Parts: sequence; C-alpha cells; structure tokens
Amino acid sequence: MEELFCLVPFLVIMSFAATALAAPTDKSADPAFRDIDRSALIKRAFEVQPKSYAPYSNFNVAAAVLCGSGKIYTGVNVENASYPAGICAERNAIFHAAAEGERQIKAIAIIGGPKGVVSDYCSPCGVCRQVMREFGDPKKVLVIMAKSPTDYQEMTLEELLPLSFGPESLN
Ligand code: THU
Repeated sequence: MEELFCLVPFLVIMSFAATALAAPTDKSADPAFRDIDRSALIKRAFEVQPKSYAPYSNFNVAAAVLCGSGKIYTGVNVENASYPAGICAERNAIFHAAAEGERQIKAIAIIGGPKGVVSDYCSPCGVCRQVMREFGDPKKVLVIMAKSPTDYQEMTLEELLPLSFGPESLN
C-alpha cells in the first residue's frame, strides 16, 4: 500500500514530463529559428494546396520547405490508383528541392485537411520525418504545422524524431 502512495505521484509527474517533452513550443527566441518567416512559408503551402492530387483519401496536404540557399520549394501529396505508389506533400517538396541541388533544410511548413479544409494541425508522417533527417541537423530543422499563416505549432525535427538515424550514423 505504501509503495502505491509513492508510485501514483511518480506516475503523474512522469506523464506530465512526457507530455511536456513532446509538446510544441514557441521557438522564436532560438537564434537558429529567429529569422524564419513562418507566415511566408505557410502562405506558400496554402498557395499550392489546390494542386494536391488526393482522389482516394480526399486528404489534401501541402508543404513548403526553406532551404540553405534561402529558396522555398513546395510540394503536395500525389496519390495513385496503386495506393503505395503515392507520395506525401513533404517528401515531394524535399525531393523537389534536392533535385534543384539543395542539400540543407532549415524549415518546413505543412498544412492539410479533409477535402482541403484545414481545421487542424497536420503532423508529418514517420517516413517524411526520416527524409527531413537526411538534409539537416535535427536540432536545427524547424517543423511548422499550421492552420493559417498566423495559427501554427512548431517543433524541431529532433523533438519529432528523437534518437534518429542519419548520414553520420553510417561512419
Ligand atoms: N499525407 C501527407 O501528404 N503528409 C502527411 O504528413 C500525412 C499524410 C498524405 C498521404 C496521403 O495522400 C493522404 O495524406 C492521406 O494519408
């Protein structure tokens, strides 16, 4: 019984700690992210969202990625009748950037929702997180999940993909 009295507060504290670790927080004071124009990036994602091709899920996603050169590249999800052949918006944007010679991702804005209606924050899937990892230090990649140019949540890639496996892991 006595153990239980110790265990309950411990579990409560741990669950709060776990939530705090995973929670999005404002990164605008961080020198690595201070100068990133979040709303400009989100606006670029909204501009291309109508081009999302999602006839099977009807879930329309768009992403805009800010690269090392300062340029922004966009992408939308493109589905396929053979379902696994489809691709997410984030990977499309990143591969678009890579194909133009970019090798560093500074930030990525993501929007999405059923039938193109963005009423919630759209979180990147695990495969897209891993693809982001290829082109940036996880501590220095800002992932912006937005509902509008002024309403967004942000997390570092490290927060979204802890203990990740990246290019240096192969050395
Ligand atoms: N999707 C994305 O494009 N990005 C995400 O982060 C989540 C999911 C797409 C894949 C598929 O076309 C549709 O949304 C439903 O999963």
